[in-house]
Amino acid sequence: MDRKSTSFLIVGLLVGMFLTTGAFAWLARSDRGGSGGENRLVLKLAHSLPPAAPVHKAMERFAALLAEKSGGTVEVQIFPSGQLGSETETIEQLQRGALAMVKTSVAAMEGFVPEMAIFGVPYVFRSEDHFWRVIEGPIGEELLAEGEGADIHGLCYYDAGARSFYTVPRAVNAPADLAGLKIRTQRSATSMEMIATLGGSAAAIPFGELYTALQQGMVDGAENNAPSVYDSRHWEVAKFYSLDEHARVPDMLVFSQPIWEKLPGQVQEWITEAARESVPYQRQIWTNYVADCLAKLAAEGVTITHPDQKPFQDAVLPMYENLKGTPIGPLIERVQGVK
Ligand code: GCU
Repeated sequence: MDRKSTSFLIVGLLVGMFLTTGAFAWLARSDRGGSGGENRLVLKLAHSLPPAAPVHKAMERFAALLAEKSGGTVEVQIFPSGQLGSETETIEQLQRGALAMVKTSVAAMEGFVPEMAIFGVPYVFRSEDHFWRVIEGPIGEELLAEGEGADIHGLCYYDAGARSFYTVPRAVNAPADLAGLKIRTQRSATSMEMIATLGGSAAAIPFGELYTALQQGMVDGAENNAPSVYDSRHWEVAKFYSLDEHARVPDMLVFSQPIWEKLPGQVQEWITEAARESVPYQRQIWTNYVADCLAKLAAEGVTITHPDQKPFQDAVLPMYENLKGTPIGPLIERVQGVK
């Protein structure tokens, strides 16, 4: 049997099994009305960013690679812009097996996999190169696998650059500028603690609600990479972007463990390969897109500053002290030990 027939057989059996039990009807759809009369496995993928985001384009590439590998029998449907809920809500759906895949910031994973807090520790990575050496080395692999205990199967990381403050009333060129400002964070205890340690106050708000929160003055600013600030049009309200680059928090593509366990090995292999193969493409388009977005933000009248990072690094040192007695303490040492 050729590869295409094998894949039809595997997925056909799979879909048949799901439809018989009825328990997985939401996951799999029999598409007998199609030209070939074959069965297809449809996997839904939710994320919070708009379709312009490089990570969305990379996941389209992932879907195309998977379609190719499976001879068209496994289809990925991408739901961008928080259509299926916030990152936290969609991860919960995924844990229950109500959704196959989510692309999330690892910050939102912190509530499910406590070790992910390492990415929220400000300035824990010395440079972009150091960050990639950690991500691509044993620590990155271990953290990717860490979700299994929480029913979250990690597939790959995507680049989400460095996060910096963008604000409405004034630029944040030193920690003292945060005094009296309410800053939106992701749903991550570490991010919230960072804001408090720097002297501001934090509010965790889903990304999809942030434009309105900025517009209505519920918060005075937020922090993110340039593509997210530009694509979400938050710059229409927040006219100061201060590149203090306090954290490098990657994105992650995750799969529902309960669904994963039901998939035949061959399908798991295709998904794993397609995800890994989409990573270099995302990194390649990311770098140019960041430069483009910074130029577009400047053209839109946003004041972009490059504050001295040292005062920010000094101001967050108490966080390192506090984390020493927690499970994150040894992880910080391991990360810092990566050459
Ligand atoms: C980044 C990340 C998103 C996340 C967003 C946020 O843009 O890539 O996944 O939703 O930050 O701040 O919520």
